[in-house]
Amino acid sequence: MALCCDDLEQISERLRCRTVAASNASDSLMEDAFSGLLSAPRSLPPKYFYDALGSILFDRICDTPEYYLTRTEDALLAKSAEAVIRNTRPTYIVELGSGTARKTRHLLTACASQEAPIVYAPLDVCREVLLESSEALIRDYRWLHITALVGDYHSDLPRLPAMLGGRLFVFLGSTIGNLTETEALAFLRELRSEMRTSDRLLLGIDRVKDAAVLHAAYNDCAGLTAEFNRNLLRVLNRELAADFKLDAYQHHACYNPIAKRIEMYLIAKAPQRVTIAAFDRSFQMDEGEAIQTEISRKFTYRAIERLLFMSELRIEQHFEADNGYFSLILARPHTVV
Ligand code: SAH
Ligand code: TRP
Repeated sequence: MALCCDDLEQISERLRCRTVAASNASDSLMEDAFSGLLSAPRSLPPKYFYDALGSILFDRICDTPEYYLTRTEDALLAKSAEAVIRNTRPTYIVELGSGTARKTRHLLTACASQEAPIVYAPLDVCREVLLESSEALIRDYRWLHITALVGDYHSDLPRLPAMLGGRLFVFLGSTIGNLTETEALAFLRELRSEMRTSDRLLLGIDRVKDAAVLHAAYNDCAGLTAEFNRNLLRVLNRELAADFKLDAYQHHACYNPIAKRIEMYLIAKAPQRVTIAAFDRSFQMDEGEAIQTEISRKFTYRAIERLLFMSELRIEQHFEADNGYFSLILARPHTVV
């Protein structure tokens, strides 16, 4: 039986789960949905995509032939994991937005030959995917200890448990691209301020490439991305007692080459009134009106350098896919004097 002490649960001998989230998840959903839906243009924050169903859908997107990101990053990690672990010798691997942690296995495998014990600390907003992936990992890596952290990487980094020893922070999947430049800078600066000199950051970033390749990756033929996008409305219906009709919204994802980003929307196919019982109010969606649900920025190498430089981080190593599609960056803290 799981022992529970405050926010720390010992789930099994090598797995414990800690809630680091400061705010109540449903309160922040209320506030975020309220301000996003009632502002112009309407928008919703992407972290709410990832309930249990959303996490499964995302995992299936990763396997579609069009979504080159996961395959490319996986191959890069397979090639570079040994070097990353050899050069960083971490005591902790702290992964932000870990999801199913499939690609992280390359890093863990590379740790098996390290003498010192290592703790994996994945942090995710979705408790279900966090526990499921952690249980699979301790089954497959008999020496591994895991401290799973339920929290939000935007607000909960200052509440990470004390970890003595070098930490390798890992942020994969080009999740950094889901933040605007201002948000990405704020996030990296905050992470940087938590980092000690011996800590490192491994960052997976998607690069600028042919617009048709980018377009296809967010418009898969099986319709999984569309289903994932609409899942955001399902979350609102359930959590806020809203009445969005999912099939009344069209998935729209297009590449904006000026801003170098995919922009994702849900577009109302016909005029409709939406009631959100938790807010005790309703609003009108016009035909063709859009709710922005996600952006996915694509980077040139110069843009990556600039982002890290501005966050007081320095690139230590750069691993790049042969076709230039994706970059893995190993960075260290740097103080400008
Ligand atoms: N790193 C994995 C998963 C990427 S999907 C990969 O590369 O495939 C993004 C993950 O981040 C999801 O698991 C989602 O639940 C989590 N996530 C999204 N917003 C978050 C937030 N604000 N704080 C913590 N986790 C978040
Ligand atoms: N980090 C992923 C990306 O930008 C997230 C993602 C992939 C995503 N497909 C999506 C987010 C579809 C929303 C909808 O590629």
